[in-house]
Amino acid sequence: MIEKIRQLIAEVEAFNTDSPEVAEEMRVRLLGKKGEITLLFGQFKEVAPQDKKAIGQELNVLRDLAFNKLKEIQEKFKKTIKVDTSLDLTLPGDPMPIGSRHPVSLARNQIFDIFGRLGFTVSTGPEIEDDWHVFSALNFPPEHPARDMQDTFFIERNPDILLRTHTSSVQVRVMEKQKPPIRTICPGRVFRNEAISARSHCIFHQVEGLYIDKNVSFADLKQTLLFFSKEMFGKDTQIRLRPSFFPFTEPSAEMDVSCTLCGGKGCNMCKHTGWLEILGCGMVDPNVLESVGIDSQEYTGFAFGMGIERIALLKFGIKDIRLLFENDVRFLRQFTNAL
Ligand code: PHE
Repeated sequence: MIEKIRQLIAEVEAFNTDSPEVAEEMRVRLLGKKGEITLLFGQFKEVAPQDKKAIGQELNVLRDLAFNKLKEIQEKFKKTIKVDTSLDLTLPGDPMPIGSRHPVSLARNQIFDIFGRLGFTVSTGPEIEDDWHVFSALNFPPEHPARDMQDTFFIERNPDILLRTHTSSVQVRVMEKQKPPIRTICPGRVFRNEAISARSHCIFHQVEGLYIDKNVSFADLKQTLLFFSKEMFGKDTQIRLRPSFFPFTEPSAEMDVSCTLCGGKGCNMCKHTGWLEILGCGMVDPNVLESVGIDSQEYTGFAFGMGIERIALLKFGIKDIRLLFENDVRFLRQFTNAL
């Protein structure tokens, strides 16, 4: 009998399992009603009196050992968190689509940043305007052919209410309200009744700039635009001013930058001229200053205006302006990290 007890002690000591079923089987086999240990206690009655002490001690050791060991194993199972195997927690999560900035916004923000560093504030105004702010205050006489330069969308056949064709209207509003010095840029949507093509659209965005103070000269205009061009298109960029005409500036000019693709050598993008036209500019016409109550003897100023889409096309090498309005995310996503 002592042999049997010792054999079971060794077996219990060596016993271990990860399976709750195996542990339960073991418990029944040893400690159940007909379990081996239970049976050994039954047989203890028949043990000769002189052996009772030694065998009794061994039997108690076996019972306590089996009891504690199995309890310990069962505790271990309780602590193990039940894992729902139908759910694979190691699978990667669904990606959260993050948006990307529109190339027009990217270009606009960069324009804000550059002029912001030169001390220009940002001004905005209404898209539906009156004739005064879009034309008359800007020195367009009523029947002047210059009004034909920009084909206007009028509202409800009322020639006095129209969609602004340029954000120069905002400059008029700023000059009406604010005394010089004025240094501001006017971003916004503008509308022109033009055929839609790869190069032009009936709705687009402009940033116009205005600087009015004592002794503002054409040299200030040129230096400001040179700084802007180098910041926008790279430090080797050169500019060229060509004489032009706008009713609200005198003298007026159109500005080209050296081609952003070939650097001026001549390529398809610049039609082999080496230059790309990007904006109109000039010294504010004294008539404009007078029409908004600024003394043109005391103050001078410069103004400029550019299309943001055009800047974005050149900056990102996009060939067709219509792509900017189609909202195809496959196209728009490409510019997320472009700046
Ligand atoms: N307003 C002009 C346009 O829309 C641009 C411009 C602004 C030109 C200021 C000269 C000075 O084309």
